[in-house]
Amino acid sequence: MSANDLDALRKEIIDAAAAAQSPQALDSVRVGALGKKGKITERMKGLGKLDGDARKAAGQALNALKNEVAGAIEARKAALEDAALDARLATESIDISLPIRAEAQGRVHPISQATDEVVSIFGEMGFTVAEGPDIENDWYNFTALNIPPEHPARQMHDTFYLAADDREGAGGEEKDQPGVLLRTHTSPVQIRTMQSVSPPIRILVPGRTYRCDSDMTHTPMFHQFEGLVIDRSTHMGHLKGCLIEFCRAYFEVEDVPVRFRPSHFPFTEPSAEVDIGCTHTRDGIEIGAGDDWLEILGCGMVHPKVLANCGIDPEEFQGFAFGMGAERIAMLKYGIPDLRTFFDSDLRWLRHYGFVPLEIPSLTGGLGG
Ligand code: DAH
Repeated sequence: MSANDLDALRKEIIDAAAAAQSPQALDSVRVGALGKKGKITERMKGLGKLDGDARKAAGQALNALKNEVAGAIEARKAALEDAALDARLATESIDISLPIRAEAQGRVHPISQATDEVVSIFGEMGFTVAEGPDIENDWYNFTALNIPPEHPARQMHDTFYLAADDREGAGGEEKDQPGVLLRTHTSPVQIRTMQSVSPPIRILVPGRTYRCDSDMTHTPMFHQFEGLVIDRSTHMGHLKGCLIEFCRAYFEVEDVPVRFRPSHFPFTEPSAEVDIGCTHTRDGIEIGAGDDWLEILGCGMVHPKVLANCGIDPEEFQGFAFGMGAERIAMLKYGIPDLRTFFDSDLRWLRHYGFVPLEIPSLTGGLGG
């Protein structure tokens, strides 16, 4: 085996390794040179036929060649792996500076939208959001609100009472009391708030309410917004100013006519219902000056008995409350004709009447619509 012969072999293997374009091709080069039947291995086996110094010299040369070839193959392997990683990173890279996809899929339900809008309007006036449990008892839902046991308003509310076995969900004090029910309005949160914080109070209560009633204009579950303001000198003028401002902001009609019509609620005295001006057109209802009125909420000055029931001295404090149906005001603002469709979970309806999630309603940025 001549030195020329070894040089030729070295060149052949190292060129082949350098030319290999994949780990598999490189491995064939390795097997062809250093594997069991590889060219270098075969030559090593042949050393036995040589004798003495010749074997020693040839052995050293072959070992050197073997190490050199192994090193070249390792280096090529590392280079191929680097290149593969670079190629993968290039295809997997994302451009985080791109704008979000315009065709965002989800839509905000009109009830959530109306809630965000109403909360942002009253939030601007200094109200905070309060919540209470859906499962209530008789006392919070009726008695404390000056609706005594035999009062006809209890029948009007078509209450869902819970059977004794269903009361597991009720929290703490409700559990063992008679008359556990699904709240028929958000007004009990007035009571809970007045019991737990001292005036001044300004809260807005969005929430689910339930009545055993189902037809074109009633669903067993619906939503309300309740408001409560208690302070030392809060009066009817504040109530009017606050609610007129709300109507203008919510319906986004600057001069919408607002009318306070005397009414009756057991928990307020005096009580009123609020109507806004509108015109009935061929396409539906147009909010604003017109020859017709639409009722949108109930309100009044909190009854002294209600204050007293919560441990607030009616000689010292007074205030106003209001309540409105969330579906109703959303239907009026957004021209949604049928209440029941709110609860159909029909994706086509949601795509049509729903709102883009990133357009968060605010008084400064626009309420939406
Ligand atoms: N709770 C009443 C209902 O569900 C709505 C209501 C009217 C709430 C007048 C009030 C109010 O706070 O003052 O029919």
